[in-house]
Amino acid sequence: MNSILDLKFAKYFIDTCHQSWLKGWNERNGGNMSYRMKPEEAAECEKFFSYDNPEKPIGLSVPNLSGECFMVTGSGKYYKNILREPENNICIVKLDEKGENYRIVWGLKEGGVPTSELPTHLLNHSIKKELTNGEYRVIMHAHPANIVALTFLLPLEDKVFTREIWEMITECPIVFPAGIGVLPWMVCGSADIAYATGEKIKKYDAVIWSHHGIFCAGPDFDTAFGLMDTIEKSAEILIKTMSCGGKKRCITSEQIMALSEPYHVNIDKTMLE
Ligand code: 13P
Ligand code: ZN
Repeated sequence: MNSILDLKFAKYFIDTCHQSWLKGWNERNGGNMSYRMKPEEAAECEKFFSYDNPEKPIGLSVPNLSGECFMVTGSGKYYKNILREPENNICIVKLDEKGENYRIVWGLKEGGVPTSELPTHLLNHSIKKELTNGEYRVIMHAHPANIVALTFLLPLEDKVFTREIWEMITECPIVFPAGIGVLPWMVCGSADIAYATGEKIKKYDAVIWSHHGIFCAGPDFDTAFGLMDTIEKSAEILIKTMSCGGKKRCITSEQIMALSEPYHVNIDKTMLE
């Protein structure tokens, strides 16, 4: 191995960023992504790490992530450039022994800092790690247009968004049986949005940030990307349906619940009440 970029996780990270760009979810520097590296991946990368950069405060405390390494997108870096110049647009940060400070140990060769949403990514990694026994490793944030459009149209309630989005594609309740969380408009990059997202991520894998975008968590790149893709496609169908005069018929709550048994998923019935 000649470079961190030869490793499978790094290739997957870069490819997923590029796929997200091709979807149109990341205008300019919009959106960010993080991956909690496995211990064996961090060990393989160690020989390429530099400890010259200073430690900086995360702004909140994530003790269960102490000493862990994350591949993350750079703040202000354009998604369209990640595939062509990964080392200038992404980085690896390593947390200290308390989980209160981070250091850039690789990447952002021409300068820069990790995404401004780092506190939100790390706090939500911390919560998902705890809740899934370490299974969840990927967090993606992006600005898909139809999801954002819906936040100007529907009441900003978890139940309303879940019901409407579940209904547009039959497989939605199978893909995200717990539903979707919705937050009101908040200042992005703040500790407040980190904690508010953290409360919702305890229950859901997807949290919509009103008039801004969506935040998805998953065990791997495909699952997190697939979740965002499914929700955005469903939101697109809803916008098209609304634009054509609204629904003339719908999938009933009974029909949605009928998916639970054959697909062995626990669809949250309370979302339909
Ligand atoms: P960064 O460029 O700092 O990642 O910010 C982009 C963004 O989408 C903020 O919510
Ligand atoms: Zn954003």
